[in-house]
Amino acid sequence: MKDHSNILTKKNVLKGLSTTFIGKKVFHFFDVTSTNWIAKQLASQFRDVHGAIVVSETQSGGKGRYNRPWMSFMGGLWFSIILRPSMSPSDSPHLTHAAGIAVTKCIRTYGLDARIKWPNDVLIHGKKVCGILTEISTTLDMLDYAVVGIGVNVNIDTSSFPEDIRENATAMRHELGKPIDRVKLLQEILVEFEETYKKLEKGYNILDEWKSLSDTIGREVVVKTVHKTIEGVATGIDSKGALVVKTDKGMERILSGECIYARHYARRS
Ligand code: BTN
Repeated sequence: MKDHSNILTKKNVLKGLSTTFIGKKVFHFFDVTSTNWIAKQLASQFRDVHGAIVVSETQSGGKGRYNRPWMSFMGGLWFSIILRPSMSPSDSPHLTHAAGIAVTKCIRTYGLDARIKWPNDVLIHGKKVCGILTEISTTLDMLDYAVVGIGVNVNIDTSSFPEDIRENATAMRHELGKPIDRVKLLQEILVEFEETYKKLEKGYNILDEWKSLSDTIGREVVVKTVHKTIEGVATGIDSKGALVVKTDKGMERILSGECIYARHYARRS
């Protein structure tokens, strides 16, 4: 019989999970195109999936921001949380913040120096260990559902990354020097996420916590948006989660874009 003790099956995830609603419904797969895609199908077909998670051992079409492919080999943690939050679509970036806070805090409990890079990456020693992709569906001006997709390089062999990715990405196992129990890590992330989500629901500001875990604030950055490239020092994020950058011409608020640290930018260009 196969040993499924560290596979993210419904049974393993639910055993000892101390959340009240996040992850209480688990859709587990061995291989899917993308857990976000499955989660979106479920959310559009069923009402009672608030808090449900879709998790897969591998993804053949894992998706990152800007539709980039997200490599999802065996040994990682690839999952999506389905939510029906009563919030305005413009507040949905806070779901990404909540996920970033949850993952970062959990990784830190393993003794690793995890930090959040605006808007949605978690880094260890400057290398990406986790990416978050939140996708929403709206009806009129209301949020119908949100899918928060989280990918963590847990027990991935970093030598399997293509060279260009290897330079900028890492895995928890690589940083820690030993493999990690993915079921336990998933449960820990779900607990932290639920706690932060409940704060959001009560109208608390979670951005101070985000800032305290941030790697970006205070850094010289180059941010590429669809329309322009902004260079300056990241001084904070505003109440909508926009990055505030002090440039030669004054302050700029950037709601969405790709943030590159100036030091890396010089090397890349
Ligand atoms: C990024 O950094 O560009 C975001 C990456 C998000 C990857 C996760 S893995 C689970 C979920 N399913 C997907 O297809 N994408 C997200």
